[in-house]
Amino acid sequence: MVRSMVDAEWIAGDGMSTSGFLWTMREVGWQARRVLRPGGHVLMFIDWRMCELLASALESADLRRHPTLVWDKTYFGMGAIFRNQHEFIVHMSVGTPSPPQRQDVGNVLSFKPVTVADRDHPTEKPVDLLETLLSVVCPPGGHVIDPFMGVGTVGSAAVRLGLSFTGCELSEGFYRQAYSRLVNTSEAAAEANASACAGSQQRLL
Ligand SMILES: C[S@@+](CC[C@H](N)C(=O)[O-])C[C@H]1O[C@@H](n2cnc3c(N)ncnc32)[C@H](O)[C@@H]1O
Repeated sequence: MVRSMVDAEWIAGDGMSTSGFLWTMREVGWQARRVLRPGGHVLMFIDWRMCELLASALESADLRRHPTLVWDKTYFGMGAIFRNQHEFIVHMSVGTPSPPQRQDVGNVLSFKPVTVADRDHPTEKPVDLLETLLSVVCPPGGHVIDPFMGVGTVGSAAVRLGLSFTGCELSEGFYRQAYSRLVNTSEAAAEANASACAGSQQRLL
């Protein structure tokens, strides 16, 4: 922990040491193991520095590891030598994984990041990418949990797929933004369903 930080900033301000990160992620792994169904999937975004450490921490909580996914951001950003264009997504399951809902998605996923102008959170993820991930691992009627939900992008993806969602967020500001985003997405989804129903009723008449 950085010496000048107050306790509440330890996680939120990314001030934890490598060991702090590892022990925290191990606990997250145990909690995932506790709340998920057997076969449930865990997907976590992580950069190249911490990828292997994160996977080890989760494996030490008795989660089963699967091939790491690559998020190809389609163009490069900063980087001293080779410029950064990707992020990793560590994939684990609780024991034998539940079968995929579709088999047409590879483990290199090309999606543009949310631009600085469009984003509400510094590490906001593109909802289309999250929707693709969930569409593979989450069965119809399934439940999605994001214990670090930021502005609720995973929740939006879940709602768009008709899945239920539970999210936690430390920052009140981000929590409020997540809440309104989820309300807006649910209303849009309900309207889309209503017009789809109206369309099918018209066809029946
Ligand atoms: C990497 S960001 C997630 C961004 C999110 N994927 C999005 O697209 O908006 C992690 C979030 O976890 C929150 N956080 C950190 N520690 C937490 C804790 N112990 N409980 C709940 N949320 C926490 C931070 O405030 C931050 O918004």
